[in-house]
Amino acid sequence: MASTNYWRPLARFFGPGGILDMAGLSGPILPQMATSSPPDNQSSTPAWSSDDLSSDPHVREDKAGKVQKMFAAIAGSYDLNNRVHSFGLDQRWRRKVVRLAGDLSGKHVLDVACGTGDLAEAFAASGPEHVEGIDFTPEMLDIARERPSRPHSCPISWRVGDAMDLDVPSQSVDVVSIAFGLRNVLEPEKALSEFRRVLRPDGKLLILEFSEPSNPFIRGCNRLYTNHIMPVTASLIARDRSGAYRYLPKSVETFLSRASIESALVASGFSKVTQIPMTFGVCVAYLAQVD
Ligand SMILES: C[S@@+](CC[C@H](N)C(=O)[O-])C[C@H]1O[C@@H](n2cnc3c(N)ncnc32)[C@H](O)[C@@H]1O
Repeated sequence: MASTNYWRPLARFFGPGGILDMAGLSGPILPQMATSSPPDNQSSTPAWSSDDLSSDPHVREDKAGKVQKMFAAIAGSYDLNNRVHSFGLDQRWRRKVVRLAGDLSGKHVLDVACGTGDLAEAFAASGPEHVEGIDFTPEMLDIARERPSRPHSCPISWRVGDAMDLDVPSQSVDVVSIAFGLRNVLEPEKALSEFRRVLRPDGKLLILEFSEPSNPFIRGCNRLYTNHIMPVTASLIARDRSGAYRYLPKSVETFLSRASIESALVASGFSKVTQIPMTFGVCVAYLAQVD
């Protein structure tokens, strides 16, 4: 599992269309790797300028368009950056979310803001009947669709859609999940209402989202890393000029607090909300249930 998790993003980075191609080296060295070309994000105007990020990005009316443009620009190196900059913990966090869902046999899982499909794939390998991944950035879904189907995994279907207006019948889904997506949605409360609408009675919502550690020392170290180190190294890996890796820490610091997310869940009709902090509270899983 671990080697597969690293291999695919590495292959995309080093293979055709990747960094060695740019140096004219990939053909003879790595002829077998299945990859996609990265987007030409060298010439595009940034999705997020320094000026944009001097204030709260969540209150901007044009947030959705900027978020979409940013993920389109970084899709090709998104998985590799996740593995490298979380030191591999991101997949562990996703597997924890899958375990929190409990017994998945015969269940229908809807992974919203699925991106390149890591969480949907982790669910599919854990026994449900069907997994559906929805995202509003086609470039992220293109990477998800490249995933080779794993033995013992259930089918996954991928489609373009908006978390705030799901084209999914009411009370038709057993588990809704959203990993690192709620913070990127224009109106998170609207998305939570949609999740409540599509869930069956006894259904579960699982949210995975970054947070600020409560311990001041750990919070300081985390801010140093996410504000000053990661934006440089991640932008280099992604050859990114969209501003994605400066938006990331700013969007975490200005997003709803853990208490506000819990209140929003209750206001949307969820009960029994549980928070599960992970890795010193850098990341939090929220489990919310429908009565
Ligand atoms: C940080 S990525 C997370 C991807 C994936 N869930 C993961 O665990 O890596 C956030 C994703 O949210 C998607 N997104 C943001 N707003 C959305 C919306 N309103 N509807 C659907 N997808 C959205 C973006 O396109 C992007 O793929």
